[in-house]
Order: sequence, then structure tokens, then C-alpha cells
Amino acid sequence: MATKVSPPQLTGSETGTDLSADWRRRDRRSVAQVWSRYTDLVISSGEGSYVTDVDGRRYLDFACGIAVTSLGHRHPAVAEAVHRQVDRLWHTSVVTQNAAMTEAAERVASICPDPLEVVFFANSGAEVVEGALKLARRFTGRSGIIAFRGAFHGRTFGAVSVTTSKAHYRLGYGPLLPGIQITPYPYCFRFCDHAPDQPCPIAAGAELERLFAQVLPASEVAAILVEPIQGEGGYVVPPEGFLRNLRRICDQHGILLICDEVQTGVGRTGRWLASEHEQVVPDIVTLAKSLGSGLPVGAIVSSHRVMDRWEAGAHGSTFGGNPVSCAAVTATLDVIEREGLLARAGELGERVRTEVERWRSQGLGPADLRGRGAMIGMEFMDGEGRPDAERVAGIKHHALEHGLLVLSCGIDDNVIRLLPPLTVSDQELSEGLEILEAAVSAVGPRG
Ligand SMILES: Cc1ncc(COP(=O)(O)O)c(C=O)c1O
Repeated sequence: MATKVSPPQLTGSETGTDLSADWRRRDRRSVAQVWSRYTDLVISSGEGSYVTDVDGRRYLDFACGIAVTSLGHRHPAVAEAVHRQVDRLWHTSVVTQNAAMTEAAERVASICPDPLEVVFFANSGAEVVEGALKLARRFTGRSGIIAFRGAFHGRTFGAVSVTTSKAHYRLGYGPLLPGIQITPYPYCFRFCDHAPDQPCPIAAGAELERLFAQVLPASEVAAILVEPIQGEGGYVVPPEGFLRNLRRICDQHGILLICDEVQTGVGRTGRWLASEHEQVVPDIVTLAKSLGSGLPVGAIVSSHRVMDRWEAGAHGSTFGGNPVSCAAVTATLDVIEREGLLARAGELGERVRTEVERWRSQGLGPADLRGRGAMIGMEFMDGEGRPDAERVAGIKHHALEHGLLVLSCGIDDNVIRLLPPLTVSDQELSEGLEILEAAVSAVGPRG
């Protein structure tokens, strides 16, 4: 029989015990081990740019809970808004309206370009991707959906059906959602034949035109779903013009363009939406991750033209738009504006790039450095030009041992992704980069 246990009150450093090991044992017994954790840390608190484990060890957090805690942990203004809401109202669902949801919807609409002004709230990224696909099918009366190879859109059935960053995410779940076609993403560093200074045919839309001509007529396509920068797939920044070409192709064929900005949105790239870098206005945008600073919330944003055709009851959620998460959304967007964090994201990106270019000039790698704003990917290849996942694993491990949490990503797990909080101080950023540089230089390339 399970016994109820309360969390330890003291940290290991105070008691001289290894509490992390105890928690790990308990986790193995009671928590589904399908959770694939990046580290075996057992974190008990977070503040600003740092997290602390149950044994009192502190880590600089450049993982941000996978692009979620962009304001650092427990930003005081968000904490205050959440506390205020907790003292007032937690839940109504669709039994009534709630003012916190309306206010958050207005605030989300205010950061999106015209005519994106109507918002549906759900609880996660996968859920808003699912909702966006349903909306596109309902609106167009067509069933075809085009997604990109290497994309990650979530774990639920619809979302995993458009996810191809790793076959492991799809293994054993088929048949997946029908009507989906996967087409190449312009990942020029790895998969394109053209010279670096030549235009990329994939970015120009050549593969899509072939798909329409040979496989799925454009007139049967409801939506093209795209990440403006591929996230889990490797922080892949497509060539300039790619999104504009998708916009043109969608307009030409009456297809809806859905930008999945779950990872790129809410200021991470230096703009509210990454699609703004190409002055592209999608028909539907999905947001989640950092939108609520760590409280679970996702949003589908679209125009009245599209959303008003989603009749009452055609979609819904018990918890979507719950007042506490919505209070966090409004406060999060206020903080980003008040503290000038869009500009800060750009500055952080510049500083990181300057530093990493210095390592590269010393021959430490990475082979490719890319990103926008504070969303930065470093792809490592070995001496034979093969993806060097082993080195990336070593770098992460070395950094962690020296107090820095960083993540990897990529179809081959050979990309370090740097996601400092947008609120990180200059000193914290320097500290993190020093640890990372030491790790990159300590763990040399394979082969
Ligand atoms: C672009 C993108 N879409 C959707 C998702 C799924 O979000 P969630 O894990 O909240 O369901 C993710 C998660 O990493 C993502 O990066």
C-alpha cells in the first residue's frame, strides 16, 4: 500500500544526506518512466536565473524548462498576479465567462499583427496545434495538411502525426491521422545541395509545387503547418524568404498558413512572433510554452474571418483559459513590454554569437551557429563531418557538473540549444558562457 510522504524540509547540504537519490528512487517507483529527463537533477526551487536541487546545489538555468521560463523563475510581477487571482477565482470552465480570460485574450491579440485578434485558450502546445488543425479543416472544408520533415508539434495523436523530428515519437502508435503529407524543410546546413551563396529551391517552394503536382492537389489542402524556426528539430533557421514564399503559395491556393510559434513566440527571438522577422502574417498562430511563464496555457490566435466560422461548441476545453493561467499570461506580456525584453532578446543573441564566434575562430567549434535573438543553436560535427552527439552529451554533462543547465536538440541530438532567460543579467550570461566555453574546450571532437 502506498504511504503518504511529505516533501523533505531540509536540503541535503544542510543535513549531509543525499536526498536526490531518495527522490530518484521514489520517482522510479511511482512516476511513469516514459518521461525522458535530460538530467537526473531533482529540483525543489527556482528563483530568477537559478534553480536549486533538494540537496542545495544551485544551477544557472539556460534551459528554461524547455523555453518556458523566459522571465526566469517566479518573476515577482507574475507571482503577484497569480497570487491575486488565486485569492479570487480558480475555475469556471464554460459554465460562465471569466474576466481573466477575456483580459488575457485582449492582451494576446495586442501582441499579434492585424488581423489576428481572436484567441482560443487551451492548456499546452500540442493541444493548440490539434485545435489549429481542426479549425483549418472546418474552415476550408478540405482535409489535406502539409507539415515539414524535422518538425516537432507535440505528443497527442494529431500533433504527433505532424511530428517527424524523431521516428521514436511515432513508433508503435500508427496508424496516425490520415491526410498528412510531410515535405522537406530548408535545413541547408545538413541537407541541401546548393552552394551556400545560392538560393535554396526548397525555401523557394519547389518541393511543395512538386507535391501539389504529383501527390496532393493544392485544392485539397486545408493548411500548411510550419515552425518559423524548427525547435526540437535542431534550431534550424530557414533561409530568408521561406515564410514569405509559403504565404504566397497559401494565398495562391486558398490554403491556411499555420505558424506554430509554441517555442519561437512571445519574444524569444526578439519579436513577439518569429514570423514577424519576415513580415509574414499567418492565418493562424499557435502559442504556448513561455506564454504563462510556467503555468500551463496555450493559445490559438486567428482573425474574425476564420475564427467566426468555428461555431459555438465545435471545439472546447474544460480547463482551457482557466483564470489563474490567464492572469499569468497578462502579467507575462506586461513584464516583457515593461522591461523591454524584446530588445534584450536581441542583445543577448548578439553577445552569445560574438562569444561563440571567438571559440569557433580558435577551432573549438561548433560547425554551425544559428538562431534569432535568444534562441541559439550550435551544431557539432565530428572530424569526418558526421553529427557529433557524443560530444554534445559530453559538453552538457561537463557544463552541468560546473553548475550550468543547457539542453540539446536536433534530429541527431548534436545541437546545443541555448535559451537563457530574457531577464538574465550580463554577469549571469558571462558566467554561463564561461562554463559552456570550458565544456566545449574540455570535450573535444570525436574522430
Ligand atoms: C513548436 C512546438 N510545438 C508544439 C510543442 C508541444 O508543446 P507541449 O509540449 O506543450 O504539448 C512543442 C514542444 O516542444 C514545440 O516546440
